[in-house]
Amino acid sequence: MNKIIAKLERQHNLEKSEFRWLLENNTPELRRELSGRAQKVAHETFGKGVYIRGLIEFSNYCKNNCYYCGIRGSNNQVNRYRLTETEILDCCQNGYELGFRTFVLQGGEDPGFSDEQMVKLIEKIRRAYHDCAITLSLGERPKAVYEAFFAAGANRYLLRHETASNEHYQKLHPLELSLKNRKQCLVELKKIGFQVGTGFMVGSPHQTIDNLVEDLVFIKTLDPQMIGIGPFIPHHQTPYKNAKAGTLEETLLLISILRLLLPKALIPATTALGTINPDGRELGIRAGANVVMPNLSPVAVRKDYSLYDNKICTGDEAAECRGCLSKRMESIGYKILTHRGDYPEE
Ligand code: SAM
Ligand code: FES
Repeated sequence: MNKIIAKLERQHNLEKSEFRWLLENNTPELRRELSGRAQKVAHETFGKGVYIRGLIEFSNYCKNNCYYCGIRGSNNQVNRYRLTETEILDCCQNGYELGFRTFVLQGGEDPGFSDEQMVKLIEKIRRAYHDCAITLSLGERPKAVYEAFFAAGANRYLLRHETASNEHYQKLHPLELSLKNRKQCLVELKKIGFQVGTGFMVGSPHQTIDNLVEDLVFIKTLDPQMIGIGPFIPHHQTPYKNAKAGTLEETLLLISILRLLLPKALIPATTALGTINPDGRELGIRAGANVVMPNLSPVAVRKDYSLYDNKICTGDEAAECRGCLSKRMESIGYKILTHRGDYPEE
C-alpha cells in the first residue's frame, strides 16, 4: 500500500507536503487505493447506510455578492422568491411523511426574513417534529442570533469556510466579506453547541493545490461534525461565468482524503457532484461520503435557487427525488437510513 495513504489511515493526519503529494499525484490508481481505504473506514462507522437530509431552499434573496454564486445580490436577472412560514412547514410535513428526520433550511442572507421570524419558525418545527434534527445554512450572523437559533431548537449549522487562504478568499468575495469573520462564526457555532459543518468548492476560481492543503489543515483543526465539498460550477450571470468547473476526479480524491482525515464526519455526496456527472453522487458515496440531500423545496421555485448552471433535480417532486436517490443508492449496494443520522458520539 502507498505509504502516505497508510499513514493517513493510521494517524488521521498528514504533513502538508504529504497532502500536497496526494493532490499532485491524483491518478486513477491512487484514487482507487484511497477510495478503497476510505470506503472501508466509512463502513466501520456507518455500514452500508446512507443518511438523508431534506433540503428546503426557502429564500433566494441575498445581500451578499460572492463572485461565484448565481443568487448574488446584484444579479438582477434572478426571479427572487421567499417561501412563507406555511409553505416551509408544508415542506417539512411532506418530508416527514417521506421518512426525512433532518430538515436543512438553506437560504441566501435575506434581510427580508428577520431573525425573529426565523426563531419562530424553528420553534414551530421543533414543536411539530420532536424526533427531527433541524439544520440551518443561513450564512454569517451575530453570535447572539446563533444563540437564539440554538435555543429555539436548531441542532446543526452548515457554513462552508469556502477557502482557508485570505488571499484566495478575497478573490472569491467582495471586500466586505472576510475569512476572519467566517472562521469566527464557525468557532462560535461550535461553542454554542451546534453540530457544525464546513467545506469548500473544489476547483473554485484561482484555487491552487496549496490552497487545498490549507483547507485540509483548517478542517482537521476545526474538527467539524460535517464536511460539505462539491465542485465549483460556473453560473452564466456571475463574474466567474467563464471560469472552469471543478472536476469529478479532484472532488472524489478530496472526499476520500477527508474521510480518512475525519473518519466519523458526516460527508454528503452533493448535488453539485451529481450535476457534473450523472453518477456523481454514487461515486461520491463510493469515495467515502455517507449522506445525500434530496430537495424538498416546492418544484415551482426550484429552478430559481440557481447557484450554478444546469443544477439537477429542479423539475422533480420531493417524492420523486427521494425515490430516485433510494434506487441510486441501492444500485451500488447501499441503503437509505431514515433516522436523524447524528454525528456518532464516542
Ligand atoms: N447563504 C448561506 C451561506 O453563505 O453559507 C447558504 C447558501 S450558499 C448559496 C451555499 C453554498 O453554495 C456556498 O457555501 C457555496 O460553497 C455553494 N455555491 C455557491 N455558488 C456555487 C457555484 N457556482 N458552484 C458550486 N457551489 C456553489
Ligand atoms: Fe432528485 Fe434524482 S435525486 S431526481
